[in-house]
Amino acid sequence: MIRKFTFGTPFNTGAVVRPEIAEEESASKLPFLTIVQNKVASRDDAGEDDSVIFSYRLPDEALVYGLGEQARGLNKRGWRYESRNTDNPFQNEGRTALYSSHNFLIIDGEERFGLFLDTPGYVEYDIGFTNYDELKITVKDGGFDLYLIEETSLTGICRALRRLTGASYVPPKWAFGFGMSRWDHKDADEIREVADRYRALDMPIDMMYLDIPYMDDYMDFTVSEERYPQFREFNAELAKKNIHLVPIVDAGIKKKEGYPVYEEGREKGYFCTKEDGSEFVVGVWPGASVFPDALNPEAAHWFGLQYKAYLDTGVEGFWNDMNEPSIFYTEDALQAAFRKVAEYEGENLDAETFFEMRDVMGGISNKTAYYKDFYHNVNGKKVRHDRVHNLYGSALTSAAGEALRELSPDRRTLLFSRSSMIGMHRNAGIWYGDNSSMFSHILMNLKEEMNANMVGFLYSGADTAGFGDQATPDIALRWLELGIFSPLLRNHSSRRLRRQEFYLFGMDEAFRGMLKLRYALIPYLYSEFMKAALRDEMLFQPLAFVYEDDERAKHIEDQAMVGEAVMIAPVYEQNAVGRYVYVPEKMRLFRFRSPEDYDTEYVEKGDYFIHVALDEVLLFVREGHALPFADTKGVLSTADLDYGKLKALKYDEAPVEYELYNDDGVTREIGEEKIRKIVL
Ligand code: GLC
Repeated sequence: MIRKFTFGTPFNTGAVVRPEIAEEESASKLPFLTIVQNKVASRDDAGEDDSVIFSYRLPDEALVYGLGEQARGLNKRGWRYESRNTDNPFQNEGRTALYSSHNFLIIDGEERFGLFLDTPGYVEYDIGFTNYDELKITVKDGGFDLYLIEETSLTGICRALRRLTGASYVPPKWAFGFGMSRWDHKDADEIREVADRYRALDMPIDMMYLDIPYMDDYMDFTVSEERYPQFREFNAELAKKNIHLVPIVDAGIKKKEGYPVYEEGREKGYFCTKEDGSEFVVGVWPGASVFPDALNPEAAHWFGLQYKAYLDTGVEGFWNDMNEPSIFYTEDALQAAFRKVAEYEGENLDAETFFEMRDVMGGISNKTAYYKDFYHNVNGKKVRHDRVHNLYGSALTSAAGEALRELSPDRRTLLFSRSSMIGMHRNAGIWYGDNSSMFSHILMNLKEEMNANMVGFLYSGADTAGFGDQATPDIALRWLELGIFSPLLRNHSSRRLRRQEFYLFGMDEAFRGMLKLRYALIPYLYSEFMKAALRDEMLFQPLAFVYEDDERAKHIEDQAMVGEAVMIAPVYEQNAVGRYVYVPEKMRLFRFRSPEDYDTEYVEKGDYFIHVALDEVLLFVREGHALPFADTKGVLSTADLDYGKLKALKYDEAPVEYELYNDDGVTREIGEEKIRKIVL
């Protein structure tokens, strides 16, 4: 059951697509939560403080799940979180906000319920941070809908959210292959060389990503003539090798006379403005830039149609970046900073003054204060950015997704974004931004998969092997051993760091074994993904969601269920020779080095230390289950997978019926009728 409670005049975020599912009720009838403050005004006359504060007493044993992309664990108790999309590459336990806002919580205690706050504004969740037994939610900038979801099971609550907000985005099947990315892959020759190395080493790959250097002067929807002469031909050449080019698209548009996207957008009034209607200029990669007005439906659609420039060259996949939006500086703040710094000349810079001076420039990026400096034109109404901030990247990406459906009606396109809100999951996937090559981030990645799935982002993944910091052979391999289960599997890293293409670590056989294993699993992963998308289920689930009555399973955060048949337990500690695993029911363990090289044993329900050598990965098959397993001999990309030669990984010899989803991998028509029951 879903009930809807409206506070003030909500802004339509577009997240809810089936309002009829929820019953509207008066706020005075709100169950579970206590309203401790209600200063909500309508959005039109909202003052500085029109926040609503809810409180809930958390019983000792209650767990709190949700919030999607956050740097912490599954059970959110004991910390404070914010919905405040921000570009912050330092992902650690101290963070309260990352790039996305996913306003969904599940309280699992004496009472069990889910809540979804449909608001594009700021929200704070104090989940036992101030008082361990109190959940306190502060919704700022009045006007929002609160949905309360009651279902008997945890998965039921997530399913209900998805029914309310719509089915998850489905990428082409080739997007389940492996992709290689690097900020400073510099030109077509280098892209070709990297792709060829993977091919020559019999390491399957489907995608090469193009980071910002592919553009002409960081201008969206252009390609550098110098670095990528004859881009269309280059694309065709790679397509022949079954490799898809996936360029990045940034939110900021370079402010430059003669650049058609800028000139047309300016002429049509499609960019965000200052209060007086003048251009709002910020600094991002190209220097002075403007933001397309994602909240103006006409402008957002126009921006989406720009992707045609790339589609026309044969490109069919994109990653959207810097769309929180990330702001290095605003033009006004930069000028003020220059003036301020000049004032320090000739001064004695003591401790206070020196740090103050350093912060003038050092603290100039991504200030929340900037969100009050610019405006959107929402159907003729001027709306200040801070009131809708968290929706920006979502709206821009959703508009791109919709435009891509229009431009490519018969073929799916790959699209994922850094910033997101619930609702965008219908149009695109996400990746979790700038993580680091740290072992703890492997574990964070595992939790992110489960958290993202709860809020509908089934197509998701992390920068495998880590974006920031130096990758080592062992971290790359251990991370890949998790990445092979993640729908979005991409090795990506920052410039100026050690290169981390998998063939650079002198362990080709081990990396090849894992990449091949990924491809062997694609018939299973694709089937489970498609069924999850069609049935509003999750692909990655916490053990607690599957073994609800198991007290041990409730607290396991470093293992996951992947689809109906598999449990995984990745290694996330350096130099570990194995790890403790909780086995919630009798399972068959496969310890893989490659699809052909593995050993297997049965493990009873219980806790074990299980050995996992560096080149091994654990895959547990549930009792009575089986999964399709592809033959990967000669397989270099998803196009080479032969569904006529499927083998099986089985719990035991008994025949098992399996629902296989297969199609041409690109058609936009998807449905239950494509599921074929096979016996494994
Ligand atoms: C941002 C992205 C990262 C990308 C870089 C350059 O930091 O998160 O993935 O490589 O920008 O485009």
